[in-house]
Amino acid sequence: MQNASTRVFGHRGAKGYLAENTIESIEKALSFNVDGIEIDVHLCASGELVVFHDFTLDRMTNGTGEVGKQTLEALKNLTVNGGFQVPTLEDVLNLIDKKCILNIELKGKNTAIKTCEIVDDYVRNHGWKYADFIVSSFQHTELEAVFQTNKNIPIAVLTKASVTEAIELAETIEAKIIHPNYALLTRDNVKLAQNMGYMVNTWTVNDADTILRMKSYGVNGIISDVPDKI
Ligand code: G3P
Ligand code: CA
Repeated sequence: MQNASTRVFGHRGAKGYLAENTIESIEKALSFNVDGIEIDVHLCASGELVVFHDFTLDRMTNGTGEVGKQTLEALKNLTVNGGFQVPTLEDVLNLIDKKCILNIELKGKNTAIKTCEIVDDYVRNHGWKYADFIVSSFQHTELEAVFQTNKNIPIAVLTKASVTEAIELAETIEAKIIHPNYALLTRDNVKLAQNMGYMVNTWTVNDADTILRMKSYGVNGIISDVPDKI
């Protein structure tokens, strides 16, 4: 049976329509009235968190080399494919302004502490609630650092390897959400995880058959490049 309440997350904004992780891509996702938006963050050389997927600049910009070795000023002077700019995490927060959940994926190393500082600032000073955030990562050390820094921030364990392993890690850091790749999911392991108290948000689901199958499994959320198709 389909679950009418499946939450829809735009992946890297609305990656299927505009250059990923840009303000314009996120605006596009917002125009679809998504429940949430997923972005990736790295720490740059001058200490700010920038919204960017790859560890290197080469695929998505006119620059080259590691994102983490560039200052914010240098990154802002680059052009993202299509004529866009690399945003900071604060640029994205100010745009979304509580209109939907923000799923911050800690992609780069040493991103946890700064992310916690910024989340806390937006909760204390800009009217956001902790429930407006999900902080996810494949990197156990980053998730552990979030858990040690602020136990109010919702954590999601990302996995493309094993639902069981994701749950085992989630138990150690009191995460209540898992983010498995859709290829790992069955009707039974979704139900098992949910019966254990976990929310299951799956990625990156773009084609009609997989969308229907994930909905039929009753996942809590679907992260998609084409969130309007969910
Ligand atoms: O957060 C879900 C998904 O974005 C994880 O994989 O490579 O697209 O960041 P990736
Ligand atoms: Ca991601």
